[in-house]
Amino acid sequence: PLVSMKEMLETAKAEGYAVGQFNLNNLEFTQAILQAAQEENSPVILGVSEGAARYMGGFVTVVTIVEALMAEYEVTVPVAIHLDHGSSFEKCVEAIYAGFTSVMIDGSHHPLEENIAVTKKVVDVAHALGISVEAELGRIGGQEDDLIVDDAEAAYAIPAECDELIRATNVDCFAPALGSVHGPYKGEPNLGFDRMKEVSELTAVPLVLHGGTGIPTKDIQKAISLGTAKINVNTESQISSAKAVRETLANDAEMYDPRKYMGPAREAIKETVKGKMREFGSSQKA
Ligand code: G3H
Ligand code: ZN
Repeated sequence: PLVSMKEMLETAKAEGYAVGQFNLNNLEFTQAILQAAQEENSPVILGVSEGAARYMGGFVTVVTIVEALMAEYEVTVPVAIHLDHGSSFEKCVEAIYAGFTSVMIDGSHHPLEENIAVTKKVVDVAHALGISVEAELGRIGGQEDDLIVDDAEAAYAIPAECDELIRATNVDCFAPALGSVHGPYKGEPNLGFDRMKEVSELTAVPLVLHGGTGIPTKDIQKAISLGTAKINVNTESQISSAKAVRETLANDAEMYDPRKYMGPAREAIKETVKGKMREFGSSQKA
């Protein structure tokens, strides 16, 4: 069923695993992620950035595709459709109106007071409708669609500010930027576990780790042990799907039927997602 993230993340945190947010890019991603979740018997969060929604035909189109596939595949695991890095109150409301069950309001580029104000506004509307909300503080480096944060701008969240935002807004989960990066890492990721521990001790809210691509398993496990219950992955599925397309087309210069090269891409995404579900510990937890 389509549900908000609230219950799945609270259960995950209590039981010591994380639910993956896997981002949608097109129909094949949607198919692959839903199939992976059902086959792994895992709860799943479908992440939809504003850019991906635009590409796929808008929020309503995304919800319609997800609902139709869930019926077709007879999906029984909990699925949340989540707006990833929502850029404004208006965008969050638009997504909720289209049928999203969860939204992120990313006010991390605003000063703290403004971030709190916009997050609170989104929470008031969302919670009245049973929709979960994620907020962010600090700035996650790298690039995802329209969101570009260079090295100089990337900033670690300050624990006392995190506590203040969470208390003032009543968000359901919270993403403190602690050195993770969107897209591939340059070298080994250097996550701020000391601060993650501090934030975790200040709040009961499940934490979110963005930039899940390329983080070593030991760091994933450490993050989970410090209260991380949601891990976002996009680039890794994109890389595996692009690799499958490249290899398939390189093997046959005469190939032109998209089903013949997008089919293997879909399989590659599915395998990547299943691997993450096992690594995050959400397999067999639906
Ligand atoms: O919000 C989405 C993510 O944080 C994805 O990060 O593309 O580095 O896996 P990634
Ligand atoms: Zn992100």
